[in-house]
Parts: sequence; structure tokens; C-alpha cells
Amino acid sequence: MLAPALAAQAVRAAIPGMAEVAERLVARWDHADEVDVSEEMTRVTLDVIGLCGFGYRFDCLGRDDDHPFIARLKRCMARVPERAASLLGDPGQVQWEDDVRAMHQMVDEVIAERRRAEQGPSDLLSCMLRGLDDRNVRFQVLTSMVAGHDTTTGALSFAIYFLAKHPEILARARAEVDAVLGDAAPTFETVGRLRYVAQVLKEAMRLWPPGPGFNVAPFADETVCGRFPIARDKTVTIFVPALHRDPAVWGDHVERFDPDRFSPENEKRRPATAYRPFGNGPRACLGQFFAMQEAALILAVILRRYELVDFADYSLKLLYRVTLKPEDFRLRVRRRITSR
Ligand code: HEM
Repeated sequence: MLAPALAAQAVRAAIPGMAEVAERLVARWDHADEVDVSEEMTRVTLDVIGLCGFGYRFDCLGRDDDHPFIARLKRCMARVPERAASLLGDPGQVQWEDDVRAMHQMVDEVIAERRRAEQGPSDLLSCMLRGLDDRNVRFQVLTSMVAGHDTTTGALSFAIYFLAKHPEILARARAEVDAVLGDAAPTFETVGRLRYVAQVLKEAMRLWPPGPGFNVAPFADETVCGRFPIARDKTVTIFVPALHRDPAVWGDHVERFDPDRFSPENEKRRPATAYRPFGNGPRACLGQFFAMQEAALILAVILRRYELVDFADYSLKLLYRVTLKPEDFRLRVRRRITSR
């Protein structure tokens, strides 16, 4: 039911909102010297999903503290791995319940306001409100808030990391951005023509898929690769960073960052199941197209305007919460001399 709200026509309608958020990022970075990339991408993606999904302005890019909803969301997400692993209960249970209750209340207010409005935007929220009761909408909003920002943050942050480490690839991506966007605001058409930028994002997600695992179960007893018996309905976790490093598919230099792996010809040569950053089958990501357009647009606006200076010669540290992203990744951002 929600798929149309994240498909091409809906994403076309979301592009001006994404471009507005990108402008806010630029306004912020023009006054910044050093930035924490994952933190900044979190601000961007929360503002995008808030504005384009629900017509709500968190204004994460306009403030240094966290919006009250975001503060609670982040606290909960930080606790998810521990809660999932703990058999003894969560010592932070009281805080957790308080956060969840407050988030529900805030989402309920947004729902009520939209129901009262004569005519709201046509977006993810309006699609939910057309077909679901308010309690269900509340849960869907929270799911989309989480699914729709942290992963895109990881994709963007890893892409920026690899570009900062590979100046020749960065130069090629930037040349494409300059040729396709010029000085103009990004549109659905121009973002769709950023093919090499999309390849950079895909290759970044090959090495570090922000959603590093998903579960599958066979319909009947199976033996995988002639060696591993798996009983019917027994759950198996696919560890995506390993899937994406299979030398039988990706060759001998699986660790090498090479966006040409995703040229149209090379993509065609591979089995589709070898690359699964967006999950698999009927439970695969609903926001895949939205995310790719959003990430390409944001990355393009950054490359068009800034030099990325890896002043601390950062070595990658992975932060795993619900998703993967680089931790403490700091860059200096400087206006390009010729930039818009
Ligand atoms: C680069 C960014 C993204 C990545 C890597 C990503 C990855 C994934 C993965 C791996 C799953 C499947 C999880 C599983 O099987 O357990 C998933 C599900 C989902 N994603 Fe994304 N996602 C991204 C962006 C988004 C965005 C922007 C949205 C919404 C606007 C979104 C909405 C969803 C939803 C609703 C599901 C659940 C689908 C279902 O269960 O039917 N995702 N995503």
C-alpha cells in the first residue's frame, strides 16, 4: 500500500524538498570549518524524511541541539542492539518507555493536525492516512523515520569517506556533477543523469552496506552449496558485507573501491542476487528509489561546492547501532574556488 508513495512519481514531487534541505546544508557548511560527516548526514536525512515524508520540519540543520523527537529517537536507537542481546531486561527500561510514549504523542499530534488540514501535501503520510487507522499510522511513521534516515546516512557517509580517500574518483564524480547540474538547482531529470555518482554510492554500499544483514528461511528442507543443510523455516542471517566480498563474483581485489563495477555492462554481467544492500524479496526496502535519488542529490550538491580535506588522515572506524556508519569521521570543508 505504501509503495506508490515512494515510487518514481512521488520521488519527483519530493525533489524540491530534498533540494531545499541540500541548500540548508550548504548554508550550514559555509560557516563550518570541520564537520563530523556521519552527524551531519544524520541531520540531512532526518530533515529530508521529515519534510518529504510527513511535511514536518525538524530543522536539524538549523540547530545545534536535537529536536525533542530526535533526541528521544536517537536514545532509543542507541539502545536497540543491547536490548536485542539482553536476556535480563534493560536497565534503561523506564527511560525507554518514557521516550516511546513521548514519540507516540508527538506523532499522534502530527497525524491529528494533518487530518484537520483541509488540504495537505500528497506524501507518505497522506498515503498512510488514506488506508490505515491512526494507531497503525503512528507505527508506520516511526518505522519510516528510522528506516528512512539512518541507512541513507550510512550510504552518504561511506561514499564521502571513499571519495576523500580516492581523489581521482572524486574528480570524475565532480566532473559529472559540474557537467550535469551546472549552477542550477537539482531536478528529477538532472539527478537521474548523475550516473557515476550513483555508481559511487552503490560501490560504497557494496563494501559497507548500511543495513548489514537480513534474514531468510527456506520453504522446504535445503542443502546450500551441497554442504550446509538448512531445515524448512529455519532462519538464516545473510551477512551482507561478506556476500559483497565473494571473490567468485567480484574478482580478486574485493576490498578495492571501484565504482566501475557498477557500470551498466558490469551490472548486467552479475547475478542480481550478488548485491543486496536493500534486502531481499517481498520484504526488501520500500524506499530504495527514494534513497538513491536523495543520496545522489545531496552528494552532488556537496561535491559541487566543497573540497573535502581529510586533514586527520582518518582510518575507518565502524559504528554499529541499528545500521553501520563511520564513527568520528571528521573532514574540513572548503568552498571550491570556482563553486557556485
Ligand atoms: C541507502 C538507504 C537505505 C538502505 C541501505 C535501506 C536498506 C533496507 C533493508 C536492507 C531493508 C530490509 C530489512 C530486512 O529485510 O530485515 C529495508 C527495509 C525497509 N526500508 Fe529501507 N533502506 C534505505 C532507505 C530507506 C528509505 C529512505 C526509506 C523510506 C523513505 C526506507 C523504508 C524502508 C521500509 C518501509 C522497509 C520495510 C519494508 C517491509 O518490511 O516491507 N528505506 N531497507
